[in-house]
Amino acid sequence: MRYTIAAAALLGLCAQAHAATATRAGFGQLADGTKVEAVTLTNSAGMSAKIMTLGATLQSLVVPDKAGHKDDVVLGYDTAQEYLSRPDYFGASVGRYANRIAKGKFALDGKTYTLVTNDGPNHLHGGTKGFDKRMWKIDSVSSGPDAKVVLSYVSADGEEGYPGELKVTATYALNDQNELRLEYRATTSKPTVLNLTNHSYFNLSGNDARDVMGNMVTLHAARFTPVNATLIPTGERKAVSGTVFDFQTAHRVGDRIRDARDPQIRFGRGYDHNFIVDGNAGTLRPAARVEEPVSGRVLEMSVTAPGIQFYTGNFLDGTYFGKGSRAYRQGDAICLEPGVFPDSPNHADFPTSRLNPGQSYVNTIVYKFSTK
Ligand code: BGC
Repeated sequence: MRYTIAAAALLGLCAQAHAATATRAGFGQLADGTKVEAVTLTNSAGMSAKIMTLGATLQSLVVPDKAGHKDDVVLGYDTAQEYLSRPDYFGASVGRYANRIAKGKFALDGKTYTLVTNDGPNHLHGGTKGFDKRMWKIDSVSSGPDAKVVLSYVSADGEEGYPGELKVTATYALNDQNELRLEYRATTSKPTVLNLTNHSYFNLSGNDARDVMGNMVTLHAARFTPVNATLIPTGERKAVSGTVFDFQTAHRVGDRIRDARDPQIRFGRGYDHNFIVDGNAGTLRPAARVEEPVSGRVLEMSVTAPGIQFYTGNFLDGTYFGKGSRAYRQGDAICLEPGVFPDSPNHADFPTSRLNPGQSYVNTIVYKFSTK
């Protein structure tokens, strides 16, 4: 009996030694004096994720390469204020509506809502002061098999032109299997539309050593949604087979990105398109795989969302100076943004972005890292 208790205690200790930990600390302040905090999740396999309260942003993600060297694999800034001064949604939680809404207009139950147009003629990523520029609250921080932080934000009825008070949480959890699980949840006081996602810019070479053109990408998507010249879906769901959008088997990003015979490449300046993830939305299923051949780092993403925006940092123009004073240039990162399709409020046959009072919105994303 005594032996069993001792063995159990020892097992408990071992389990603890391998547990992932969460630590909370200051992350400087904004120009207006607002204090920003960050929670760092660290596992026993060499990974750590830093999440800051401004924008519930994934500020850094350290992942070992095949030789065990740890590097940061997401673009971003060293200070919180830069995320506000030069916003490009680096690592941010985007809302209320990630991606575009045509002409900033949509109708709900017969009423037309007008949103700001901040991307040419369209509304992008929630407007002038979307969720990426809001201060989120830390609700809880915990260590254990999953090191976890829960952040929340309450968006007032009418904020940025959207109806309903929206209560949102973002939960980041890191385990010892090198899985970072991110879950967005929301409830509303009135019928509304929403599309919450994370906008991390991945560069698996680590600290942006190389651009992403040599990355091998697989997208579990037999179809994508073509767009017009302002990147609004035409409504078509097009088979990727025989096009430069066929990533059903692994392809180098750079192999076909300059093939401007396809007007879709012209519109996006490369890849900036929503792919329809195979299988059933609402079920966690594989969506994407990215392999960086030199470091050997591999990212596999599983999602519950119906779509995933594949964007190759086409609008990074060398005027963004990120962590460690690195200039970010076109093609320096891959964004994989799971959500409903762009402009879904204006496409009755797209998966719905509508949320009613009493319903719970959930968008789950799992980022799993390994090496090859
Ligand atoms: C969009 C791009 C945009 C980028 C940063 C992506 O989600 O698809 O067109 O430039 O976000 O704003």
